[in-house]
Amino acid sequence: MIQAKSAGFICSQCARQLPKVKRPGVIASSHVQFRHASRLGRRTTKGPPPQRLAAQQPLPTAEQAGPRAKQEYAGPPPRQPSYDWKDDTPADRPWATTFTNTVWIVSGTVFSLLLGLYGTQYYISATQPAPDTSNAPPINLTAVYDEYAPHFDQDVDRTEYWNGIMTLRSRLVKQARGHVLESAAGTGRNAEYYLSGRVKTLTVVDKSSGMLGVAEKKWPHDRGENEDWNGRIRFVVGDIEDASTRAHLSQQFDTVVQTLGLCSTDDPDALMRALTGLVKPGGKILLLEHGQSYFDGLNRMLDRSAREHAAKHGCWWNRDIGAIVEKSGMEIVEMKRTWRSAGTNWYVVLRKPQGEQKEASSSR
Ligand SMILES: C[S@@+](CC[C@H](N)C(=O)[O-])C[C@H]1O[C@@H](n2cnc3c(N)ncnc32)[C@H](O)[C@@H]1O
Repeated sequence: MIQAKSAGFICSQCARQLPKVKRPGVIASSHVQFRHASRLGRRTTKGPPPQRLAAQQPLPTAEQAGPRAKQEYAGPPPRQPSYDWKDDTPADRPWATTFTNTVWIVSGTVFSLLLGLYGTQYYISATQPAPDTSNAPPINLTAVYDEYAPHFDQDVDRTEYWNGIMTLRSRLVKQARGHVLESAAGTGRNAEYYLSGRVKTLTVVDKSSGMLGVAEKKWPHDRGENEDWNGRIRFVVGDIEDASTRAHLSQQFDTVVQTLGLCSTDDPDALMRALTGLVKPGGKILLLEHGQSYFDGLNRMLDRSAREHAAKHGCWWNRDIGAIVEKSGMEIVEMKRTWRSAGTNWYVVLRKPQGEQKEASSSR
């Protein structure tokens, strides 16, 4: 069935040339097995039952195929070793090893140095008492905010994104219902989170005209660009802690929203009392504030740099928000701190007990 050819073998059944191999008998017999199985008695799906072959022709040897075949068939070409990365030992690339080691040593050294510096600074800040600033002149926080207003949003955008404040704003402000007051509204960073369908009126107050000027542009109600808020929103420049500002507002609200306000006043207890007076009995105060952390070491760091930070950013970042809120006498519905901010972000929902009436007017 298989005939020898000078360069290989030819099957006499199908006239195929079979590849040159070391052991021609093996390839020839497997060719016969698979290609011409029916003739060997194996069942196929089509056609009549196969006839068994009487006897197979013995395969010709290289000698039988003739002196030319013997001479020309020199076997398969020698196998080229394929590239194997496992064979590629560092010894083959001494330059690469040196380079890798240098990178590791340099980056390790820089990292350790930075860590050491940071650790030392943290240790000093965390263990040293904060300087006594009780006799230092007061900082005019409103003036700081007036000056800060044009670049306030740009400055805080990234920090707020990373420490999760944006998400907390959205979760908090969506709860505002009915007649709503936003106290210490700043540049109106909460504007996009109000559900306008659930808010009857919105009063936006801040004592910095610079900050409120930026906020007004985020609710372009007076130019007919935001039909949603037309006639339902007002902006008031004034200090909520002042009785005259509260008299001007002349109402109590279903919801009072304040984000990052308790840090930005000289008297956070007075601000908290004012808010309590401005909410209706049964109404809610929604707060998002930042202040002391879970960690004493970090708190000492905040204490040490508090005055410098307030002079630059208008905000005292070392206040105990929990204590201020508890003093207000409001019912605490929810008070949470986030691990992502090491406990410095405070999310607080308060309800005014039903029995309390018209505190706003009595405290004026
Ligand atoms: C850090 S900014 C926060 C602004 C905004 N609520 C926010 O979440 O981005 C603090 C703002 O609170 C205002 N503020 C502080 N105490 C206030 C008070 N008693 N009455 C009105 N505004 C006040 C400041 O003028 C400033 O614009």
